Amino acid sequence: MILTVTLNASIDKLYLMDAIHPETVMRVKEVHNTAGGKGLNVSKVASLLGEPVTVMGFTGGCNGQYLESLLAHPLIRPAFTHVSAETRSCINCWDLSNGRSTEYLEPGEPVTEEEVGRFLSDYERELPKAKVVSISGSAPKGVPGDYYSGLIRRAAERGIPVLIDTSGPRLLDAAGAKPFLLKPNEDEMAQLTGREVNTRTAEGRAEAVRALLDLRAGGISCAVLSLGAEGAILACDEGIFVGKPPVIRPRNTVGCGDSMVAGFAVGISRGFSMPETFRMALAVSAANALSLFTGDFDPRDYERLYPEVTIEKQ
Ligand SMILES: Nc1ncnc2c1ncn2[C@@H]1O[C@H](COP(=O)(O)OP(=O)(O)OP(=O)(O)O)[C@@H](O)[C@H]1O
Ligand SMILES: [Mg+2]
Repeated sequence: MILTVTLNASIDKLYLMDAIHPETVMRVKEVHNTAGGKGLNVSKVASLLGEPVTVMGFTGGCNGQYLESLLAHPLIRPAFTHVSAETRSCINCWDLSNGRSTEYLEPGEPVTEEEVGRFLSDYERELPKAKVVSISGSAPKGVPGDYYSGLIRRAAERGIPVLIDTSGPRLLDAAGAKPFLLKPNEDEMAQLTGREVNTRTAEGRAEAVRALLDLRAGGISCAVLSLGAEGAILACDEGIFVGKPPVIRPRNTVGCGDSMVAGFAVGISRGFSMPETFRMALAVSAANALSLFTGDFDPRDYERLYPEVTIEKQ
């Protein structure tokens, strides 16, 4: 099974509005509540690809119980650490007249030292059953800055590959612990290297490839730079690969990166080759862009897009 870690889970509320007019009273046309947080998006996509997932993180209060009920899927097993703080909510107001969205992200309540310690023992209990660990997103206040590197080391001691998708100081901490796979987007790559990434020029691309090779030299087996609609570049033991999705008309690209990570987690847990895994990751992330919902895709889109993805070895 795939073990996912989402320390900053939330109830994601999508409000569909005919039009948004600030400073007026507006009626919401449709409300869709889902279990949110980047690792939960990974979990949902991996389960839709047919892989069993154990979901770990913090949940608390009535919101926490509600979040767990929203995750009901035969392939998803919640194994959350229950905390006293109420699970946060995040609201995305979607203007149907122009497709623009405005997000309100609650910061979330801090967790205590005891709860942080309890998560570690829960993690140790679940680890032996995992084929792959996937750690995504931010963490609430109270979680030490070197927590992700500790989780990576604990998995590495058992020979379990860890996939990391986060940003800021937690990304730097995780990168230093040599995870199996790192998937920065352009902004996150700039945070890692301290230099801007611009893959629209030939020199910029060459520099991006050098940055990926530097990550490999630092002990990360698979370094993937995701480039939105342009696809992604993968540096791994088999070589350097440039992957491109077909041109589509996206509906909602939020969570495409999470879907890509899910594709990698599934391919790696099934023992697929890296180029094959990369194709799966590109196809499922493009399929996610066609769905209005985050961490979701229509299997028919995935099947159609899969053969249309191009992968070129450099
Ligand atoms: N418009 C699109 N058309 C096709 N594929 C897309 C599109 N946008 C994203 N993707 C696919 O999803 C992958 C990840 O997207 P992106 O680089 O935007 O990740 P991200 O910034 O980490 O996203 P998030 O953090 O919101 O999940 C891309 O490498 C690409 O394969
Ligand atoms: Mg991302």
